[in-house]
Amino acid sequence: MIELRAFEEADIPRLLGWIPDARFLLQWAGPQYKFPLDAPQLLNTLAATEGERPSCFMFKALRKVEGDVVGHIELTKVNYDTGTARLGRVLIGRPEWRSRGLGREMVESALSYAFNRLGFDMITLGVFDFNAQAIACYEALGFTEYERRPNARTFGKERWTLVMMELNRKVWAEKRAGEQPRASKAGKTNP
Ligand SMILES: CC(C)(COP(=O)(O)OP(=O)(O)OC[C@H]1O[C@@H](n2cnc3c(N)ncnc32)[C@H](O)[C@@H]1OP(=O)(O)O)[C@@H](O)C(=O)NCCC(=O)NCCS
Repeated sequence: MIELRAFEEADIPRLLGWIPDARFLLQWAGPQYKFPLDAPQLLNTLAATEGERPSCFMFKALRKVEGDVVGHIELTKVNYDTGTARLGRVLIGRPEWRSRGLGREMVESALSYAFNRLGFDMITLGVFDFNAQAIACYEALGFTEYERRPNARTFGKERWTLVMMELNRKVWAEKRAGEQPRASKAGKTNP
């Protein structure tokens, strides 16, 4: 089981250690961060999480039983008037922790925060078309594609297509209501 807690300054070194190279940084976070990612860039985002109506929520994701931090996720571009936000910077930190269901649980927790706690109506996200694992994770939770942006980013000679996806509160609620509780794959193996 995954639990989200507010990301704090003390969490910065761990997150920095999860970003191996410039390509990964662009795939994970988009062009706002420059490689090498460093504390000042993250502190800048952290500043946006302050106040009563922050424009951004940054979370670390913990495994409830083990108590260790395994991931990171954000709600950005928060618009309280339209009840919308962008899900982003979705990361299960170490490669060996991926493909065990942790990402899906983490995204599910962030969606629950957005729809239930913040009362939002629509969550969108952008994912590169080659990131099959992330797309599978989002589709499993009910996200559907609404736009494709070819050449949205370049990395060296590579041109990347951004797939825009959305999930509204109604679809989210219907999907949850129709689902049986799933057994977590995450607890089956130790890291
Ligand atoms: C994207 C990411 C968060 C997904 O988390 P994860 O823990 O690896 O994914 P999960 O194990 O929860 O799997 C989610 C779905 O993807 C599927 N999946 C898992 N590994 C896969 C793979 N290699 N290829 C395609 N689909 C895969 C699973 O079957 C699952 O679908 P299901 O719930 O219907 O069975 C994680 O892989 C990650 O941190 N990647 C690097 C950073 C990144 O690219 N972030 C996304 C930026 S948009």
